[in-house]
Amino acid sequence: MSPAAEPAIGEYRDEIHAEDPKGIEIGEHGYKYRMLDGVVMPPYIPPARYALSRTLATRPGDICYTSFPKSGSTWLAYLILLIVHRGEPPEDATLRSCLHWVASSWTYPRSREDLEAWPSPRILKSHMPYGMAVGGVPADNPCKYVYIARNPKDVAVSYFHFESEKSWSGNYRGPWEHWLQMFLEGRVQRGDWFDHVLSWWRHRDAPNLHFLRYEDLRRRFEPTLLGLADFLGYVLDEPTLARIRERSTFQAMTADPFSNMHEIKEFNQFFRKGTVGSWKDRFTVAQSEAFDAVYARRMEGSGLAFEFE
Ligand code: A3P
Repeated sequence: MSPAAEPAIGEYRDEIHAEDPKGIEIGEHGYKYRMLDGVVMPPYIPPARYALSRTLATRPGDICYTSFPKSGSTWLAYLILLIVHRGEPPEDATLRSCLHWVASSWTYPRSREDLEAWPSPRILKSHMPYGMAVGGVPADNPCKYVYIARNPKDVAVSYFHFESEKSWSGNYRGPWEHWLQMFLEGRVQRGDWFDHVLSWWRHRDAPNLHFLRYEDLRRRFEPTLLGLADFLGYVLDEPTLARIRERSTFQAMTADPFSNMHEIKEFNQFFRKGTVGSWKDRFTVAQSEAFDAVYARRMEGSGLAFEFE
């Protein structure tokens, strides 16, 4: 379906919410969510849609990319698309129309039959922890999974801006300090950041999983991109690599109607700063120290570390 034929996102969301309005909870400061498998999830994932995503039969050519929200997943999606299309985005399309967000229904196709008819390689988006992945248990699937993680202080701040400034699904209208508390207690949509990231990290050596960090893409773009391409089975020649580098910078993605998601008016400027360390503009010293203590306890022994500066 061409993007022009899709209903406006607001109408779509209303329709999805109407599928199972009973499951939608309204928490503190108006924050909307629903519970799925014991994890806080967005209202726009009705149980039937979630069940479809879990039972979708994946194919060897499929690429399922996943992250906790605000971890650079849109950047990753564009990189995957550019790798698959040799550095040239498809014509008469937008980034959103080239992806299939199976569980959430924001993108077409919506039915299992339509999804099955979609040609390979299908690029399937989700923001699920390992135990709720598209296709069921990742280790039992023939597709490839790519997970991107970002330092949680930047994630918490980026997510706060997203949920509090936009009329999106959560509509959080409370202060930052309360949001931070909810984030640390796993009460924001998609649940506990530590559980989410570590659930995938534990499987990082699986042959069909590639684990990436946002900060590596930011600081060591070329080797990180080449590693991703290699995992996906593509060899990038120098001109393709140069095209991808040029098209996927923060500035280029913000300026390009293909990738900037201006068609979703509720996003009202999806791209914000695109940097490492913008948490410093928001955290107080005391908040940072308290966060560090939780971080040290929860990450201990995991072998996973992030750059915060
Ligand atoms: P900020 O809010 O810190 O700017 P997601 O796509 O998973 O929702 O993640 C969104 C975050 O990724 C936003 O972070 C956004 O600006 C950042 N981002 C998107 N494209 C980027 C790019 N090309 N380079 C760097 N950061 C990017």
